[in-house]
Amino acid sequence: MAIPNKVNSICCIGAGYVGGPTMAVIAQKCPHIRVTVVDINADRIAAWNDGDLENLPVYEPGLAEVVGEARGRNLFFTTQVEKAIQEAEMIFISVNTPTKMYGIGKGKAADLKYVELCARQIAKCANGDKIVVEKSTLPVRTAESVKRILEAEESNHSFAILSNPEFLAEGTAVKDLHRPDRMLIGGEQTEEGRRAINALVEVYANWIPRERLLTTKVWSSELSKLTANAFLAQRVSSINAISALCEKTGADVDEVANAIGTDSRIGSKFLKSSVGFGGSCFQKDILNLVYLCHHFGLPEVAEYWEQVVKMNDYQKHRFAKQVIDTLFNTVSGKKITFLGWAFKKDTNDTRESAAIYVAHELLQDQAEIHVYDPKVKEEQIISDIEYLLKNPSGYASSALPENWRELVVVYREPVMALKRAHAIAVLTEWDEFAEYDWQSVYKEMYKPAFVFDGRNILDGEQMRQIGFEYKGIGKGE
Ligand code: UDX
Ligand code: ADP
Repeated sequence: MAIPNKVNSICCIGAGYVGGPTMAVIAQKCPHIRVTVVDINADRIAAWNDGDLENLPVYEPGLAEVVGEARGRNLFFTTQVEKAIQEAEMIFISVNTPTKMYGIGKGKAADLKYVELCARQIAKCANGDKIVVEKSTLPVRTAESVKRILEAEESNHSFAILSNPEFLAEGTAVKDLHRPDRMLIGGEQTEEGRRAINALVEVYANWIPRERLLTTKVWSSELSKLTANAFLAQRVSSINAISALCEKTGADVDEVANAIGTDSRIGSKFLKSSVGFGGSCFQKDILNLVYLCHHFGLPEVAEYWEQVVKMNDYQKHRFAKQVIDTLFNTVSGKKITFLGWAFKKDTNDTRESAAIYVAHELLQDQAEIHVYDPKVKEEQIISDIEYLLKNPSGYASSALPENWRELVVVYREPVMALKRAHAIAVLTEWDEFAEYDWQSVYKEMYKPAFVFDGRNILDGEQMRQIGFEYKGIGKGE
């Protein structure tokens, strides 16, 4: 046997936000390939197999339709990891790589324990030559470590490692997968490496134009993912830095963003000022880059990128502080309604959401936090607050009041969440928030009725006309 240059069976380890949607689209577009997604989390797999497509564990517009089309045909979800590895010619590793919270590299390096476990499991049960594809975002040169683990197990099988970073954004995952700007495939420049690259190119060529399939060296591909996320996050931090200046000087950050965005060299995307970026990638990847730079003796480069994260922390803190300052220097015992908890609209993902950090800061001042998010469940919100409490980051390190749990109330619809609030804070840009009957909301609130729009989605002028004390981000008065 040799590394195949065309495959008919794929397995993906990890049925999360990346693995689930990516495999669903591969299965949809390649009916001739059998795609099996495995996970050790039995509940997650059960949810992917749920007869009611509303109950899929990942919410993404359009995803239920794709899963509905392919599931049971050539798309399968199972907990039988070994069997799936054995049956597949190509194995994607799509497990989580959170920031390491212990030991060397704590708070910066990526925790590769899940990836390492996968590599060991593949090595242990492989029954033939396999192509192993890194889909998780990983530090540069991880492929090398994965290969060493795979080859350490004494067997007659060969493994080719590819790096195929995912650029999909949550909330638009299906659209991004259907029409990606580009698909990066990094591989070794050897005969086997080239066969493996070709096999993956043939999978994607079923629906992606070949000129968008970029093939590179493994390390270039790994580093491109970190760099792309660092550049995107840097744009958000840059416009957020300007938002602080706008508030002091009377300029309007959306006008500034629009003005600079029309310069074709700058471009208009990722210039929306906000309460701060969140999500599982931006902060993690930049910290990863920072760690790498230190490791390779480049402290100036590390410091340059670290500033992007510091500016983001500053933005979240500035927002929380503005709420407290504006509410006469204390929010103790006041009902602050959070509209939104997810890190962006159209997803139920809350990882690193700015809402968690703002909630912590307001809870420290003993606010009552009342949350409504159309897609995030109460258990998730509580576990997010608990997680930060147990794993304090530099910015949110103080303890919460002992009774914090009583101070957090979660709603399944907005009306009661908004009633008799002292202030409303918009943390996520869900479309429905702009469509509320704000006149009625105003009537039911304590006066002065404050609105802090962390996403600039409401019409400030109209809100003021109704009677609200409205504050947007970067809206100088
Ligand atoms: C990001 C990358 O975009 C994607 O390519 C990569 O694969 C994973 O990381 P994601 O985290 O899903 O995707 O969402 P993204 O749309 O990039 O938003 C990240 C955060 O930045 C969100 O909290 C969003 O609200 C915020 N953001 C984005 C802004 O505050 N302003 C903007 O202009 C854009
Ligand atoms: P991402 O956003 O990168 O997809 P998630 O946390 O949503 O991250 O998903 C990663 C998934 O990988 C989780 O469902 C987790 O249970 C699964 N996972 C982690 N390690 C393993 C493993 N060794 N075998 C199978 N599944 C794993």
